[in-house]
Amino acid sequence: MKNNASRVLLCQLMLMTTAMPFFFKGTACLLTGVLVCVAGLADEAGPVAALEPPAVKEFMGRQIAQTMHSAGASWLMRREREREEAGALMRQKLELKPGMVICDMGCGNGYHTFPIAKAVAPHGKVYGVEIQEPYLKMLDEGAKKNGVTNFIPVLGLTYDPKLPEGSMDIILLVDVYHEFDRPAEMLAAMRKALKPDGVLVFVEFRGEDDRVPIKPEHKMSKAQLTKELTGNGFKLVKQFDELPWQHMMWFGKQ
Ligand SMILES: C[S@@+](CC[C@H](N)C(=O)[O-])C[C@H]1O[C@@H](n2cnc3c(N)ncnc32)[C@H](O)[C@@H]1O
Repeated sequence: MKNNASRVLLCQLMLMTTAMPFFFKGTACLLTGVLVCVAGLADEAGPVAALEPPAVKEFMGRQIAQTMHSAGASWLMRREREREEAGALMRQKLELKPGMVICDMGCGNGYHTFPIAKAVAPHGKVYGVEIQEPYLKMLDEGAKKNGVTNFIPVLGLTYDPKLPEGSMDIILLVDVYHEFDRPAEMLAAMRKALKPDGVLVFVEFRGEDDRVPIKPEHKMSKAQLTKELTGNGFKLVKQFDELPWQHMMWFGKQ
């Protein structure tokens, strides 16, 4: 039982019953039973419900996209992806070095995770955070197939990526941020997980470019991303605009 107030009351009641005449003991026992049930229920439902922030459908004037289901995982490994996204160039722009600690946030089945793990090996690490459990099995298989041992899979919550505090050099979000349904909580949690000079790197399909053949809510404009990040404790530190369909933006702590 975690509810402290209930615990104290319960102890008081139990002590009182030992000193009571027999006549009152039955009533006191009944009361104790009721209290145990109420406290138990509060433990089961109350604190958990109170801790979980509500999901939102819109954030700072932007419609939030639906999460891409793990059943569509093969799309993330499509053959045309390198031509459309130039992933190797994107990773080169991260300037990865051995020993760095990187998080691939919303890593899916690990398209970028394993090349990054190799680039920071042997002493660097990559945390791969996902909220969909089926991806963890795919990631485990991917790590074995790629011979990667410096990869740490994390089953996150939609409002808590469960990362160690002050530990990340880079948190990379490729085609992920627009899906967060608790963006403010995720930004605050990622901010905590960064080292003092750590950065969030966003790779999003260009919202301001009609030629990019992606649904509007799965794209983001630079202006919108900057508005959301500067409104939540970050500042823009760098940009790269030469990817075929996406822009790449680095944000550090304000
Ligand atoms: C379009 S996929 C991109 C996957 C991967 N980044 C890639 O480029 O191959 C978006 C992923 O973000 C994940 N996601 C959505 N909200 C998340 C959250 N709050 N924390 C972690 N992952 C999240 C989804 O489960 C989904 O797998």
